[in-house]
Amino acid sequence: MRILGFLGSPRLNGKCNKLLKRALEGAASKGAEVKNYELIKCNIKYCMGCGNCFLKNPELTIGKCPLKDDAAAILEDYINSDGYLFASPCYDVFVTALMKTFLERKIALTYKSMEELAKIPAARPGVAANFLKKASFIVTANCADELEEVMGDPCYEALEAHLLFEEIDTLDKLYVGGVEGMSDEVFNAKLDKAFELGVHLVETIEAARNE
Ligand SMILES: Cc1cc2nc3c(=O)[nH]c(=O)nc-3n(C[C@H](O)[C@H](O)[C@H](O)COP(=O)(O)O)c2cc1C
Repeated sequence: MRILGFLGSPRLNGKCNKLLKRALEGAASKGAEVKNYELIKCNIKYCMGCGNCFLKNPELTIGKCPLKDDAAAILEDYINSDGYLFASPCYDVFVTALMKTFLERKIALTYKSMEELAKIPAARPGVAANFLKKASFIVTANCADELEEVMGDPCYEALEAHLLFEEIDTLDKLYVGGVEGMSDEVFNAKLDKAFELGVHLVETIEAARNE
């Protein structure tokens, strides 16, 4: 079982990464092999919208992208993994530009051909097997927990739409509001929730496979 984390925060020592690391520890405690992709450290260029990845060789599992950067290797790891933890701070009522840039490059996994353009495209063959792969989200924000709908929902939607195209189930969503100036006591309780999120992800994937 391999679980990947994707960090959308540029602040490696921020609260978002602390929560993501704790969630990955939860996954590891259930025997998963884990890796944290701190996106700020990766070379991921903007999608240029050329369409090469889905118009040429649409039969490939990962569409060929002319950009030379880390995206192809990350996507290779992505399709060979079983579950995902996406963590992003809310910036201007959305996921960060770092996370969005990565999501756009995942188009190489989803669109299939010109004929599919006007439709919601199914994932490329081999990307996921009938929703057996799962993902959970962590969103940090300065607005309090009561504003999860305003701040968290647009972030969840951005992530969830991609996963739907890839036929990957969304499992849990952890919103951690009021992060700036949060007491250690409150934050520690959120870290415990993050750990449980990681545990639940692995347990759910295992249970789905054993059905
Ligand atoms: C450019 C920018 C935009 C932000 N926009 C929002 C926002 O729309 N809503 C909100 O609640 N917090 C907002 N925040 C606060 C961040 O969400 C908060 O600082 C972050 O979740 C903390 O995570 P970190 O410790 O990983 O940096 C913003 C912060 C920055 C720097």
